[in-house]
Amino acid sequence: MEVLIYPTYEQMSVAAAAEMAAIVRAKPDAVLGLATGSTPLGLYTELIRLHKEGGLSFSKVTTFNLDEYVGLEGNHEQSYRRFMNDSLFSQIDVPPGNTHVPDGLAKDIPAHCREYEQQIVDAGGIDVQILGIGGDGHIAFNEPSSSLASRTRLKTLARQTIEDNARFFDRLEDVPVYAITMGVGTILEARKLILLANKKSKAAAVAAAIEGPVTSMVTASALQLHPHGTAFLDDEAAGDLKMREYYDWIQARKPDAPKSS
Ligand code: GLP
Repeated sequence: MEVLIYPTYEQMSVAAAAEMAAIVRAKPDAVLGLATGSTPLGLYTELIRLHKEGGLSFSKVTTFNLDEYVGLEGNHEQSYRRFMNDSLFSQIDVPPGNTHVPDGLAKDIPAHCREYEQQIVDAGGIDVQILGIGGDGHIAFNEPSSSLASRTRLKTLARQTIEDNARFFDRLEDVPVYAITMGVGTILEARKLILLANKKSKAAAVAAAIEGPVTSMVTASALQLHPHGTAFLDDEAAGDLKMREYYDWIQARKPDAPKSS
């Protein structure tokens, strides 16, 4: 896995956005896998800026989000559909019909999950998938012990995730216990994976994911199985990495690296 460390969250976000923008410029009808949470907000802000000031168009792009709470309506303040509409979709030119977020109110959840997987296949597969990381090392809502071969499905949330996300709800009891999430196996099929992490609170999970064993106890460690995974980290999130010195050293020398065509 490529590990890129930036002094600040802003620099990390701008660098990840530049990579996304390059993918969209090279392939205007790219399929983007998107994530929620506070971590990708800086990336989305930069993509919006590139759209408004840099002429970057998303008019042919298709998007698939990783997950959604079960039981929340799409316009609920804490639903991931609402988050995406507010934080990105309403501020760029992606046609609303091209954006996909699992439906937390689906009546037949297994059927909805199968359909979601099929929609990804029908769109040609995901070109680049953005990922945050939970404090317990999860990606999307693939909590510890989730199968590394898992597909889009109904998933119970771990206690730590519910407690971490309670800050967005009025009461702890209001945090949904279930979510629909792409599986680890689904995520690994994307052509490129971009993991974003900032803050000290993520340092242990980031180190376990990048340098620890591949284990379902840290589902982000599945990135080690992907041929094109890049971690964009800020200084604090990189704090527990044993090979930190190497990542910094090689990153500083990358401009001299031979370029592939
Ligand atoms: C939730 C989401 C994840 C996200 C994680 C971390 O659990 N399902 O996709 O990565 O929160 O969120 P934050 O970026 O706010 O720390």
